[in-house]
Amino acid sequence: MIKISIEDCGYKNLVENAKAAMENAYCPYSGYRVGAAVVTPNGSVYTGCNIENGSYGATNCAERTAVFKAVSEGERKITAVAICTDEGGETPFPCGICRQVLSEFCEPDTPVIIYDGEDTCYSAELAELLPYSFQFDK
Ligand code: THU
Repeated sequence: MIKISIEDCGYKNLVENAKAAMENAYCPYSGYRVGAAVVTPNGSVYTGCNIENGSYGATNCAERTAVFKAVSEGERKITAVAICTDEGGETPFPCGICRQVLSEFCEPDTPVIIYDGEDTCYSAELAELLPYSFQFDK
């Protein structure tokens, strides 16, 4: 994982898409807005936001919203991921469940860009975030 500027991360447009998706975050419990965007091999972009629930555990993270939207539209491969929160918020490192969900449709070297909306941006490969991920033979 490297710390990098948005300008240099190579996925500025994808980060902008994640930022726009964050505007629809439904987070009345945490107040923590998150947006995510994924891109597929033909360049299609799918976005998502976090969607909280009064039962807390039923909350869906922004990353999973974006992945599920892509897969439900027929996509099966994701080539890059961007995650963004509000300026200066906690850096939105993807949770364990999202890392596992991403691993189903990404390669180990798929770039994941993680941006706090202000000055901290990380670029990591998925396998750094989730080494030895469980994969079931298809
Ligand atoms: N959340 C995400 O959407 N993605 C992340 O990367 C981290 C956490 C959401 C879930 C919940 O709505 C809120 O952030 C606080 O956990």
